[in-house]
Amino acid sequence: MNIVFLGPPGAGKGTQAKILVEKYGIPQISTGDMLREHVGKGTELGLKAKEYMEKGQLVPDEIILGMVKERLSQPDAQKGFILDGFPRTVAQAEALDKMLEEMGRKLDVALALIVPDEELVLRLTGRRTCKNCGMMYHIKFKPPKVEGKCDACGGELYQRPDDNEETVRNRLKVYHESTAPLIEYYKNKGILAEIDGSKSIEEITQQIINILEKK
Ligand code: AP5
Ligand code: ZN
Repeated sequence: MNIVFLGPPGAGKGTQAKILVEKYGIPQISTGDMLREHVGKGTELGLKAKEYMEKGQLVPDEIILGMVKERLSQPDAQKGFILDGFPRTVAQAEALDKMLEEMGRKLDVALALIVPDEELVLRLTGRRTCKNCGMMYHIKFKPPKVEGKCDACGGELYQRPDDNEETVRNRLKVYHESTAPLIEYYKNKGILAEIDGSKSIEEITQQIINILEKK
């Protein structure tokens, strides 16, 4: 199954993708996580990407496309994948279609999580992530059992530098201008499934499973 997750920052793409990885055994390909790894290691790519990410702007396509192409060609992505945070512009979506066509593959479904902006600000400013395993928490909606520690591995929880209110509002603006048009793009291709992303994490997972089982 070749899946794309669409949705604004904080819609729950990463949260749901991680659940599907467990259930279906296909990898989550998150361009945001890949970029943060580069930033953390201080690679040349990471140094370039950092200035855009800190402001909540999109990293240029030439950086993103090479990274995704390389990831999609790896062995674990051959039986399927869950793209999270990519594509983010119509140009990226067209480049993805071309990439997949060259590989003799295609997308099965684009899952769009719909959530109102004010809910997204609350979710992102309260998000905490495990430094060690990447598990996501929320100080109110999904608190860890022990404050500041990951339930799964005991790792330390941190707040992403782009999760402050000012940067979050800019990320939402960029989403509405550049990424929201992809909903129409995938509707026209006949593979869009819209999901009410304001429900609980469990209810959303169930909605997604229902859609995937019909595919
Ligand atoms: P990226 O890492 O992709 O961030 P994003 O799109 O802003 O999405 P998030 O990870 O913030 O949100 P999410 O939808 O995964 O939500 P989550 O599940 O964590 O991108 C970061 C930056 O990298 C970009 O700004 C850009 O600069 C660059 N970049 C990345 N990809 C790029 C590309 N393709 N092109 C160009 N630039 C790119 O959930 C959020 C919180 O809510 C958590 O605390 C969670 O516990 C909680 N939560 C989740 N679901 C629910 C629920 N149902 N109810 C209540 N709380 C919930
Ligand atoms: Zn952890």
